[in-house]
Amino acid sequence: MREGAPSFTAEVVCFMRASEQRKPPGARVLDDPYAPLFLGPLLGSLHRLGLPLPADNLFGLTAFVLARHRFIDDHLVAAVARGIDQIVLLGAGYDARAHRFAELLGERAVVYEVDHPATAKRKRELVHKLALPAPPRHAHVAVDFQHQRPDGPLREAGFDPARPAFFVWEGVTMYLSHAAVSATLSTLATLCAHGAELALDLWYYDDGHSARATLNRISASMMPLIGEAVTFSLHPRAAPLLLAEHGFECSELVDADALAARFFGGARHVMDTGYLVHAKRR
Ligand SMILES: C[S@@+](CC[C@H](N)C(=O)[O-])C[C@H]1O[C@@H](n2cnc3c(N)ncnc32)[C@H](O)[C@@H]1O
Repeated sequence: MREGAPSFTAEVVCFMRASEQRKPPGARVLDDPYAPLFLGPLLGSLHRLGLPLPADNLFGLTAFVLARHRFIDDHLVAAVARGIDQIVLLGAGYDARAHRFAELLGERAVVYEVDHPATAKRKRELVHKLALPAPPRHAHVAVDFQHQRPDGPLREAGFDPARPAFFVWEGVTMYLSHAAVSATLSTLATLCAHGAELALDLWYYDDGHSARATLNRISASMMPLIGEAVTFSLHPRAAPLLLAEHGFECSELVDADALAARFFGGARHVMDTGYLVHAKRR
């Protein structure tokens, strides 16, 4: 993260969600009417002009970003139907779930948005200015996962470890060190009651010589240009083991091909560096 600057990757993925709004409702993978409101001057202008990012699908990244948001939405909605009403968005960026699902979440729900201080500040100010609908209890909590554990700040904000919770960790682990990912997972394990749920994406950079693997590594090496270097990669077979070490049982792991089939009927290429995981606290 650039010192003192809000996350640019958070705005880029928000731009991708905003672009989906230009399609007719029935053709969208997900519906995020608030996404355009969080865009800054550059991406906001591109959005208003209706311009795509340089390469429309960015080698499958756009499709991956839309599919991961939808995958997590589906798990979140199912968890809320099972009675979970404490939601924690880790590295929330411009995730608008508190607003998109305000009605579904209802009066009892509480949403905690945890993010790096500069991004958390911009989000909090925008949400306040735009007066978006939100559950009555909705807190923005500043934490740098690289150097801090989120338990203290979450408890201070009112998080109740005895109450079932759904944690979203979307588009964040790849920007952290292995130590920070492990430390955050072990903190979550201490924070959540049996049955708590976690949905996240993880990325894996194949060190092979195929054109696809090389291209993926080249695109990752460009990320420091926008302030967020990719520093964590985990093979999908290792993910259930890492989660198990921290008391979580992997209930679903979905790769790029499965995402393409599930959300795009196989018609769109989904970046194969990333995969999605849903896990439950044992
Ligand atoms: C690609 S964005 C994803 C945002 C959001 N989860 C979404 O999917 O729209 C990455 C997010 O991770 C957060 N992040 C990156 N490094 C972080 C750190 N060390 N501590 C806390 N948050 C961090 C950024 O502030 C940003 O909100």
